[in-house]
Amino acid sequence: MRQAGRTAATILDRLCNLVKPGMSTWEIDQSGGELMKDFGVKSACKGYRSGHRIFPSYTCLSVNNEVVHGIGVKERILKEGDIISVDVCIREAGFIGDNCRTIPVGKIASEVEHLLRVTEESLFLGIQQAVHKNRVGDVSAAVQKHIESSGFAIITNFVGHGVGRSLHEDPQIPNFGRSGTGMKFRKGMAICIEPMVNMRSPQIKMAPDGWTALAVDGLPSAHFEHTVLVDEDEAEIITVPDGYDCAKKFFAEELPA
Ligand code: MF3
Ligand code: CO
Repeated sequence: MRQAGRTAATILDRLCNLVKPGMSTWEIDQSGGELMKDFGVKSACKGYRSGHRIFPSYTCLSVNNEVVHGIGVKERILKEGDIISVDVCIREAGFIGDNCRTIPVGKIASEVEHLLRVTEESLFLGIQQAVHKNRVGDVSAAVQKHIESSGFAIITNFVGHGVGRSLHEDPQIPNFGRSGTGMKFRKGMAICIEPMVNMRSPQIKMAPDGWTALAVDGLPSAHFEHTVLVDEDEAEIITVPDGYDCAKKFFAEELPA
């Protein structure tokens, strides 16, 4: 799991560094596919089935009001002021690593910067709760509290998940709920925590491509995800790129109380 997490994070980091105005999401996805080949790993998105639909791209690339599961396409050209969620999910030696980050394309509006910051903060606040003998609801409540107190809207149609040899394992990890409820965590469990947050309305609809979830009000949406291992005192974030020893390198150290 640690190796898969490291590779997933390294690829995510490389892709985020490529993002520039004028690029298409197809180009980013192609680079994702090449990196996966270089690392000797497989995409866990490409070929993913939902009913009769099969996900077509290596990564999920969701721009602005696209919430999750966007497909890399040639027509989608990034421009200054956009945001893009880059979701990299791979299988390495039988195990899954899954992580996502929403990043600015050039300079973005300050309220959108705030949306990104609050969403990432809520992820880290959730991770702090993923310890032995806590419950799923402790993670959910921590995420929900931070998002709602910031005036943003939690998307409830999608949830985090257990992870291991399969991408989506039990338990579900919702981004809303009550502390003290739900399944108890045990040391060694692997989970993906992934808050998805809209600017104002939580309502989403499906795009005509059958995969991309869209914020109905057209406002930007953010998504941050790590794969973590539950432990006694502190969860271990395993989606940390090669050469880093700590995911917090990506994050302003102080968390809100
Ligand atoms: N990180 C996403 C998730 O946990 C990856 C989805 S793969 C897709 O759901 F094929 F469904 F897009
Ligand atoms: Co996930």
